Amino acid sequence: MKSFNYKEYRRIIFFTGAGMSAESGIPTYRGKGGIWNEYNWEDFACQSAFDLNPEKVLEFHELRRIEALKCSPHPGYHLIRKIEKEKSNTYIITQNIDGMHQRADSKNVLELHGSLWRMRCQNESLILEDKLTGSYSKKKCQCGFWLRPDIIWFQDMLNDNIVSLANNLINKSDLFISIGTSAVVWPAAGFPKLAKKSGAFCIEINPEETDLSYIYNKTIRMRASEGLNTLFSLGS
Ligand code: APR
Repeated sequence: MKSFNYKEYRRIIFFTGAGMSAESGIPTYRGKGGIWNEYNWEDFACQSAFDLNPEKVLEFHELRRIEALKCSPHPGYHLIRKIEKEKSNTYIITQNIDGMHQRADSKNVLELHGSLWRMRCQNESLILEDKLTGSYSKKKCQCGFWLRPDIIWFQDMLNDNIVSLANNLINKSDLFISIGTSAVVWPAAGFPKLAKKSGAFCIEINPEETDLSYIYNKTIRMRASEGLNTLFSLGS
């Protein structure tokens, strides 16, 4: 790690997953304490569950909003924001729906899997911000249809524009730092390989080995904030 200096890189991507928010107190999806160990996604996180019982699915997401509001961005988020301010071509591509990067004031955030803080009317193709409280302010659209969380659930298609923007940014990056993702969900799972293929220097921060650890130039086996702090103190 001695030779690493982030100042030498021009286009930096931070690619974050649930492990980034774990230190703030938001549970991950897989592994110990993971959401999908406690809840069946088939009952709470797919369109057919919503069609069957919208109230139950909305309650599950309200619970997640309430939990997220109890948490605050940890120092790792603020460090990413600091780099973003310092280096203009810095982007955050996140699989997280909790809005923590934005709460740390980051601006260039691409949310691959949507946001807990938006609702969508499928009838009117309308997207509504709904940020203030744990409970949703409205559960039905004025047209009478149920509003669903603007989140990519299991079996949903990702937003093509967001995916191609992410691909373009990664293609042009020269430093790619993945933090706290098990890298098993596609297309996000393909991003580290794309970065490597594009010639970026690739770093993984994760206390655990992942299926993709072998492709990284460097792996840092630490928690998110500690790993980020270690990495960026080398180049400051
Ligand atoms: N710091 C860094 N990494 C951590 C920490 C921490 N403090 N704690 C846990 N991790 C790592 C775990 O080792 C694991 O590799 O975070 C990863 C979390 O993996 P997942 O729970 O699978 O989360 P993620 O990869 O973001 O999941 C992707 O799956 O269900 C979907 O849509 C959901 O966006 C989510 C997607």
